Amino acid sequence: MVKYMNNQSPRIKRKNEGIKGSVFTFFSTASAVGKTVLAVNYAADLAERGYKVCLADLDLQFGDVCNYLGITPEKTLFDYYEQEDNQRDTSTCITEIKFGFDVLAAPLEVDEGFIMDAETIVQAINQLRDDYDYVLLDTTTGFTGITLAILEQTDVLYLPCVVDFIPSIKDLKIGLETLHKLQFDYQRVRLILNRNKAETQISTKDVEALLGRPFQYFISNDYQGIMQSIKEAKPVVLTESKNKLADEISDMVSEELGEKEESGGLTGWLGSLFK
Ligand SMILES: Nc1ncnc2c1ncn2[C@@H]1O[C@H](COP(=O)(O)OP(=O)(O)OP(=O)(O)O)[C@@H](O)[C@H]1O
Ligand SMILES: [Mg+2]
Repeated sequence: MVKYMNNQSPRIKRKNEGIKGSVFTFFSTASAVGKTVLAVNYAADLAERGYKVCLADLDLQFGDVCNYLGITPEKTLFDYYEQEDNQRDTSTCITEIKFGFDVLAAPLEVDEGFIMDAETIVQAINQLRDDYDYVLLDTTTGFTGITLAILEQTDVLYLPCVVDFIPSIKDLKIGLETLHKLQFDYQRVRLILNRNKAETQISTKDVEALLGRPFQYFISNDYQGIMQSIKEAKPVVLTESKNKLADEISDMVSEELGEKEESGGLTGWLGSLFK
C-alpha cells in the first residue's frame, strides 16, 4: 500500500461511480471514547485502498477532526449552511487533505454549530453520497434531533466504548435500547471495545452479558501511539512502523469491506450494495 507521506496525494476518482456512497457513522453515548480517533483512521485507511472518501465532522460545536489532522479549513459546514437553500453545494465547502481523503469541517464557532439544523445536515449528507464512495460521519455524544436525522442516513453505525466505569456501561446499554426503540437495525450496529485491556476492574465478558451482545471489534489501548499521531497530525494507520492499533483498525476495515479472505473485491454485505 502507498502511504501518503508527501504533501501531494492524487485526488481520487470514485470507484463506484453512479452508485450512492455508503454512510458510516461514529457515535457514542459517552464522551472521549474514540469516535474521532477511529473515524479519522478509518477514513485514512479507506483512502489508502483507493476509495473516494469524505469525513464530515458533525460534532457541530466541539469538532476535533481538523485538530487531529492538523488542518485549517477555509470553508466549513457553516459556510454550507449559509448558502442559498437550493444552491447549497458541499463540494464548495470541503477541504482536500494530503492523506487522500476530503474533510467537511465542523463550524469553527460554538454559536455557528448551535444554529445548524437537521434538514441542512441531511441535505449535505445526501450530496456527499453522490460524490464519494464512503461518507464517514463523526458525531457528538448523545441523542438529539440532529443525531436522529443522521441515524436515518446511516448505513453502518460504529459505537466505540471504553469500559472504564459503570455509568458509561449503563449509558451504552440505554443507547442500545434507544436504537432498538428507534428500530435501527442491530445488524448495522458495530460495537467496538476501544482501549481494550486498559486498566479496569470490569471484565469484558460481564459487559457483554449486560449489553446482551458481544463486541465486534477490539482496539488496543495505545496512549503513546495516539498522542504521537495527534501531535504529528497523522493518522496511526499511516505510520510506517509496525503498530498493533493500526493493524486492528485496518483489519476492522477489511472485515467490513469483506476483503479479509478475498483481496480481489468486496465480498461482505457492503459488496452487495455495489452490485
Ligand atoms: N485506542 C486508544 N488508545 C489510547 N488512547 C486512546 C485510544 N482511543 C482514544 N484515545 C484517547 O482518548 C482521547 C479521546 O479520543 P477521541 O477524541 O477520539 O474521543 P471522542 O469520542 O471523539 O471524544 P468526544 O466525545 O470529545 O468527541 C484521545 O485524544 C486519546 O487521548
Ligand atoms: Mg470527537
